[in-house]
Amino acid sequence: MVSTINDNPFSLEAIYQPYDFFARLRDTEPVHYNEEFEVWMVSSWEHLVWVTRHPEAFSSSVFARDTRAPNPPIDEDDMEIYNFIKKWQVSRFIQYDQKRYNPGVSGPDHVDMRRVMHGYFTPKSMEMWRPLVQSAIDELLDAVEEKGQMDVMSDLATPLPLLVIARMLGIPDSDRPILRSLAKDLRFLNRVGPDRMGPLSQAVQNLQEYLGPLVADRVKSPKDDLISVVAEGERQGIFDRDMTVNNVMLLLSAGHETTINLICNGTLAFTQHPDQWAILKSDPEGKTVRATEEALRYDSPVKSIQRIAMDDIEIGGQTIRKDDRVRWFISGANRDPKVFDRADDFDVERYPNQHVAFGSGIHHCLGATLARLEGQEIFRNLANRFDTMELEIPVKDVEYDHVLTFRAVESLPVKVTSAR
Ligand code: HEM
Repeated sequence: MVSTINDNPFSLEAIYQPYDFFARLRDTEPVHYNEEFEVWMVSSWEHLVWVTRHPEAFSSSVFARDTRAPNPPIDEDDMEIYNFIKKWQVSRFIQYDQKRYNPGVSGPDHVDMRRVMHGYFTPKSMEMWRPLVQSAIDELLDAVEEKGQMDVMSDLATPLPLLVIARMLGIPDSDRPILRSLAKDLRFLNRVGPDRMGPLSQAVQNLQEYLGPLVADRVKSPKDDLISVVAEGERQGIFDRDMTVNNVMLLLSAGHETTINLICNGTLAFTQHPDQWAILKSDPEGKTVRATEEALRYDSPVKSIQRIAMDDIEIGGQTIRKDDRVRWFISGANRDPKVFDRADDFDVERYPNQHVAFGSGIHHCLGATLARLEGQEIFRNLANRFDTMELEIPVKDVEYDHVLTFRAVESLPVKVTSAR
């Protein structure tokens, strides 16, 4: 069907007013085929939850299964880079499903791969990291308080998740300058597209070169850290060496930009809703948990996830064909009025809040507890420390990265006044 509505997810409207864009898609055609990008776009909560819970119908092995030529096409000269990227993509467990759901795709089973790391990310073991998160935030906010101003992106949101995951992985503190330079490589990892292949493959190589020796060391002599946990998967024969390195890289990257976006988008929401900021400030300890859930829903850090259809299937009155690619828009689902009352309101006391910011089903975010902990501590500390937080530029001038996967500001200058 030829579309009569704007369905271009890279259009300025989709990037800058995504909630109008998704609302229109949801109201007119919640399951919609975009001819130009050859992808289904799905924006309702009900369909997103269904699909993530039916890996037999929609597989995460998008790159392993997709046998079509890349669209837009890739130059002959770039094919080597393209194949290198594809090999890297398919070595990470986020791209696998259970064998029984995924006939024909070689490699280990998603359950076995995830089990290697699962025990590390339980709520109880994550709690042990709260003091580190608190002390890192203290240090960052001391500097902000002194200046009376911050770029939320560079002064707060970028350093915190990187520091925490680096400590967990067992990356030595002396490597912090290297890590800072690798942070921009991590940003490229989630930006797959024909125009971004060069920087992406360079970023993957930089990270492989850095992580390779650390992994080799932990396979030989395990320590009490997360790299050693992944390395145990190699000792058990679940991962080969490339997979071990690339899955350590996945842990480093999966929580990086996502948590940055939670901190930036949540802080932006508070600057635009002084009444909600006042509610949080009235009881930061008591209210930060629900406020963080609402920040995750209201302006979700991850905009969309991908799947590939395993067979012809009818969904939302449309027939999706075997091997069709599908984008499931978390940002649309989290504003679905069928599920959320006053879905477009930012309400920090919202309960229940069945958002799908972390996905659902077998690929539900492994690091959700850690991300929540960091978000809660950030919003609690901001509310305790500062009386006011004011955006220093008109909100219409906040720039966003033109990507499908994330809702990512470029920078966020905010003025603060101390509560002390
Ligand atoms: C998976 C969101 C933080 C590690 C996912 C998925 C989403 C998501 C939507 C599902 C992907 C899919 O179904 O295709 C987020 C958000 C975060 C966050 C919004 C922060 C606010 C983290 C952190 C870590 C992490 C801190 C690790 C330290 C992972 C991993 C997966 C994943 C390993 C793959 C799980 C699997 O395939 O079984 N995340 N994430 N994430 N996340 Fe997160």
